[in-house]
Amino acid sequence: MEATQVGIIGAGPAGLMLSHLLHRQGIASVVLERRSRDYIERRVRAGVLEQGSTDLLASTGVGERMMREGLVHDGIKLRFAGEEHRIDFRRLTGKGITVYGQQEVVKDLIQQRLADGGEIWFEAEATAVDGIEDDQPRIACRRNGEDTTLACEFVAGCDGSHGVSRAGLVAKSFERSYPFSWLGILAKTPPASDELIYAYHDRGFALHSMRSPEISRLYLQVDAADTMDAWPEARIWDELRLRLAEPGLQAGEIIEAGITPMRSMVTEPMQHGRLFLAGDAAHIVPATGAKGMNLALADVRVLAEALAAWYRSKSRDLLDRYSERCLRRVWRAEHFSAWMTALLHRDPAGDPFDHKLRLSYLRYVVTSEAAATTLAENYVGFENA
Ligand code: APR
Ligand code: PHB
Repeated sequence: MEATQVGIIGAGPAGLMLSHLLHRQGIASVVLERRSRDYIERRVRAGVLEQGSTDLLASTGVGERMMREGLVHDGIKLRFAGEEHRIDFRRLTGKGITVYGQQEVVKDLIQQRLADGGEIWFEAEATAVDGIEDDQPRIACRRNGEDTTLACEFVAGCDGSHGVSRAGLVAKSFERSYPFSWLGILAKTPPASDELIYAYHDRGFALHSMRSPEISRLYLQVDAADTMDAWPEARIWDELRLRLAEPGLQAGEIIEAGITPMRSMVTEPMQHGRLFLAGDAAHIVPATGAKGMNLALADVRVLAEALAAWYRSKSRDLLDRYSERCLRRVWRAEHFSAWMTALLHRDPAGDPFDHKLRLSYLRYVVTSEAAATTLAENYVGFENA
């Protein structure tokens, strides 16, 4: 049996950043990740960092490549009914966002952890968490085809939406599913716009994003039951052209494609005994608000601070307040993400009245300074939630 101070399940942004922050406080951890390093470094996920996230990466020494390669945006474009409007984040809030792929954040954190002598067990799947109500938590795990146990003082469940750690909680789950999904592609074509385009069309939502000056990231609202079989490449490009109404959009080689269901979920509380959940393990947001990775990073910042206080003074105060401190921010992001989703997606069960209401609301958002500020301050990250 191996032992460490904090056993972390999952090497996504939450788990890796937590391990990094703990190391900076002199606290040892082991990260268990069921996939290979290669797999998680290639897995295409979210791509928008709020100022609070970029500050955290930069101030803890893992932001160098992000600052060099990340694309700083001062606003977004909204398109609907043949019109284009810009929401100027910088003017409305004084802040911008940085477009930098989640797998790049993951690569940078892995590199730093390994350079610092950190322990990440790849292809090690946690199968159960025990002992969180007494002072001897244990993570059962399958590694290199063998069953082994990691003994620790605390367990951080950073194992995403399909992880095992949630089973250890005595908690209530609040959930919503949506009658549509997102089909996302990564394509070898230069972005046709220098800013993100969120488009509402009567055929459904589309989003134009990017990863670099050569690579675009594009999304389409599709039916919840759709599979990729229904979406040959030509259909994807036709539909993107139609909904985005972007003449500059050129079809290019599709490097990656997949369909992601849209879901909202919050677990309350996010902790039990010596188990603490962070990131997608504790809450899911539909991607329309670009909040997932930011929530994950913000959670572990709070958790690392609480664990550091415990190891410094053996005071449980901050640990006991972990969930409460996170949930206000989490619910603000949940509301914003559900609001953006309702604003920009066609409801398959909706009627023409519904469509007209949505257009009116969009027009309000782009003409009222108050409404535009509501969108902007939530998108860049509302600090006082
Ligand atoms: N044992 C070990 N590792 C596991 C287990 C398990 N039983 N179950 C899941 N994992 C791993 C997954 O393979 C994944 O690498 O946990 C990791 C969880 O990482 P993420 O899903 O990236 O979650 P998180 O770090 O919370 O980051 C949230 O991810 O899905 C996006 O939109 C979301 O941007 C947000 C971000
Ligand atoms: C992305 O670039 O992957 C992205 C951007 C904005 C979103 C969701 C995803 O709202």
